[in-house]
Amino acid sequence: MRRVEPARALVGHIGVPGDKSISHRAVLLGAIGEGETVVRGFGRSADTEATLAAVRALGVEVVEDDVDLVRIEGRGLRGLRPPDRPIDCGNSGTLLRLLAGILAGQEGRFELTGDESLRARPVDRVAEPLARMGARVETQEGLPPLVVEGGPLRGIRYELPVPSAQVKSALLLAGLYARSETTVIEPLPTRDHTELMLAEAGAHMRRRPGRAGVSAVERLSLGEVEVPGDFSAAAPFLAAATLLPGSELNVHDLGLNPTRIGLLNVLARMGGRITVFHRRRAGREPVGDLEVRSAELVATTVEPAEVPALIDELPLVALVAACARGETVVRGAGELRVKETDRIESVTTSLRALGVRASASDDGFRVRGVPTRPKGGGMSSRGDHRLAMLGAVAGLVSREGVRLEEPEAVAVSFPGFFDLLESVTER
Ligand code: S3P
Repeated sequence: MRRVEPARALVGHIGVPGDKSISHRAVLLGAIGEGETVVRGFGRSADTEATLAAVRALGVEVVEDDVDLVRIEGRGLRGLRPPDRPIDCGNSGTLLRLLAGILAGQEGRFELTGDESLRARPVDRVAEPLARMGARVETQEGLPPLVVEGGPLRGIRYELPVPSAQVKSALLLAGLYARSETTVIEPLPTRDHTELMLAEAGAHMRRRPGRAGVSAVERLSLGEVEVPGDFSAAAPFLAAATLLPGSELNVHDLGLNPTRIGLLNVLARMGGRITVFHRRRAGREPVGDLEVRSAELVATTVEPAEVPALIDELPLVALVAACARGETVVRGAGELRVKETDRIESVTTSLRALGVRASASDDGFRVRGVPTRPKGGGMSSRGDHRLAMLGAVAGLVSREGVRLEEPEAVAVSFPGFFDLLESVTER
């Protein structure tokens, strides 16, 4: 348990850990690349540690020069070897699903599993299209453990039934091994880190709005990857600084890939005051610095088309909405139900326990906001890192503080979260 007391403001300059999505991808692509891949700004967390452990189990040498500097000795496209036990993906859906795509192109039988939360999350969404490509894939009625037996693959044209960067990425990675082209068609744009990194590594990518194609490649080589700060790790700070009057917070070297920063658009619409400056690139990824000032907010509606670009930030949108005048509605976010927890249920229940008027719908939620602080109270992260961070921000902006059970879940994506938050909190 951790008590988070109300705060007056957030003031200071921060950097956040390297992007988790990009860190996973750098390690996985490095593993099937030629020669050494140097990952600078690696975002170390329980999830990305699971990725390092997974590639090691597959026979890849990983040198950890520093917390945020790792080197991967690539084994080449077909160089991964089946370990003698299942690969534990921990809490990470990204690892399990992306790795399944790579393993479909390897020789041998591989079993992927994870913690209790991951074992309750759907994997048929990758199993089914990978089987269509020619891999032999078994699931436990659509859930992990997932067994993949690689073999000769054929390319497919696949329309994603749900917007999911994980599924898209798994298929593009399998497409590197297929004898014909693989095309993934997306209903809505999802994060494109895989496409950008594959192009950087020398894969033949074909991209048009709404679709991404790849064909077989002889070799991949990444060389150096500079990982920008994780927008999703910065998001709780952006929310807290927006809500606490008198805040002045700067976040430097933050990844600003347009497929990730939907929260900036939503906050701007609500009256938020966040400025982006010093725009640049890290490899092909857009990066910049942010300046956040507190603001008085009004309610908004988040439409389905906006959801993929802020899927992991929707819990924070619910909290921000609690302090914004009027009713905020989020629709088309049914994917929240299959995250680390059912985040439609867990977010609305937790916020209600803190005195917020929030209600769940099938594919989203409604929050009635008032321009005063929520009361506070007790909630549990239920082992979900995004919920733990939500609880922390709720504590800061509340009148009476929050008693947060299982706060240690933050380590799934951001082990230093509470220390960094304390360092900029004024009480
Ligand atoms: C991720 C994609 C998203 C996101 C997850 C990370 C990725 O999941 O929620 O935290 O790195 O590709 P889906 O693609 O399943 O929506």
